[in-house]
Amino acid sequence: MSVKIIKFPKDFLWGSATSASQTEGAFDVDEKGESVWDHWYKLEPERFFDRRNSANDFYHNYKQDLDIAKKLNFNSLRMSIQWSRIFPKNNIVVNQKAVDYYHKVFKYANKIGLKLIITLYHFDLPMWIQKEGGLVNRLIVDYFETYAKFCVQEFKEISNWLTMCEPIVPVQAGYWYQMHWPLQASFLQSLYAILNLNLMHLNAVKEMRKIDNNNKYGVSINIEKSIPRSKSKDDVQASRNSDLLNWLCFTDTMILGKFPQDLIDLLKKNNHFPSIYFQPGDEELISDKNAKVDFLAFNYYQPSRSKSIPYLPDMNTDTITPNTHYYNDYIMPGRRMNPYRGWEVNPKELYNTLLYIKKRYNNIPVYISENGMGVSDESRFKKNGVIQDTYRINFVKEHLYWISKAIEAGCDVFGYHTWAYIDNWSWMNAYKNRYGYIELDLKTNFRNPKLSATWVSKVGKEGAFEIDLEKDFI
Ligand code: BG6
Repeated sequence: MSVKIIKFPKDFLWGSATSASQTEGAFDVDEKGESVWDHWYKLEPERFFDRRNSANDFYHNYKQDLDIAKKLNFNSLRMSIQWSRIFPKNNIVVNQKAVDYYHKVFKYANKIGLKLIITLYHFDLPMWIQKEGGLVNRLIVDYFETYAKFCVQEFKEISNWLTMCEPIVPVQAGYWYQMHWPLQASFLQSLYAILNLNLMHLNAVKEMRKIDNNNKYGVSINIEKSIPRSKSKDDVQASRNSDLLNWLCFTDTMILGKFPQDLIDLLKKNNHFPSIYFQPGDEELISDKNAKVDFLAFNYYQPSRSKSIPYLPDMNTDTITPNTHYYNDYIMPGRRMNPYRGWEVNPKELYNTLLYIKKRYNNIPVYISENGMGVSDESRFKKNGVIQDTYRINFVKEHLYWISKAIEAGCDVFGYHTWAYIDNWSWMNAYKNRYGYIELDLKTNFRNPKLSATWVSKVGKEGAFEIDLEKDFI
């Protein structure tokens, strides 16, 4: 028999992830300050898909949207707070209207039985911090401390906190590949940003614990464990370089309390290690037990693949990018693709990475905090008014199947959140790639369930689903 029932533990978390700037809208009401996104959109709207910056107005529709999450039988949801709402102008003056708004949202979610996991920073730096140098100015560690302490002190409704989401993304997109503001090209600055993000996180966890040690503190990291093109020494080293520069620089520091020595050696070998990097007190903070996370939120969409560089790159310049100078991306012929987004589909690699995490990080509790299938031009799949997203159902099924295998193999996986339950705005891609179980009509703002909505609500209700191992694998 190829049909199997896949069952999950009773208190397993079912839900989705969202972020404030991607859902709230209302970017210029109630004294919200500018974020880097509000600023950049004003300057160059043409850089955004369809020139759109309006998120789906959760700010005014939060009850309706939280009710939808509940109808999908979610028991949990990840959201974020916009730093630029709470501290619109500086590190001192708090915006009471924003505080009131988040209280309303959190209280309502609690009332209807949604366990919230709240992210403090999801790519949306306040512009007043960016004007002072943003991620490369060390003062950001203090600014983040003030913000994190304020939130934990104020929002007693919340007991699960993530300091940040995918810290490598603002580094890659802001300092390597020019896809996020400040659109700079500087490897040196990117290394300072990596250190400062680590310090922001560690210091915030340590300080938040002093306020409330009963809360759970974590961080969300997009781990794209690199698969080498071949077993050759050079390809394997290329993959290792990719892992070090893209995620081990965070996970080792934040979980093991050690900035990877291999990365320091690699950078030194290429004369890229800054002459002044760690400052007095940094190493103590990195190894401080109170700065360690309680759990890891693991975002998984696809693995990366790497190969060695077939030429001798000029390392003597600051405008290098890791994937041209430390490794090359490898496009494996025949890899399985999501053709509607251009990303690889590789559910088994999620299992492999979970086993790797178990071993490297002493079986730290982990939940899948983002996973999902982005589809461009999704209305082409509409029949009788409903998007027939069987591809999404199969995508989720397959990933859940491999998560269940990882649990069987002893990994401490306690939940699964997709990105995201209602189609939402996504940075430069705006509404290009749709991820939701619920379609968002951009003209009317109407939320229309897709076919997958019925399926996922059944999974949430039963904590189990049926899979046909011959037919359901996409
Ligand atoms: C995730 C981010 O990595 O990717 C989200 O955390 C983002 O913020 C999502 O929206 C999807 O990105 P895209 O480019 O496919 O719309």
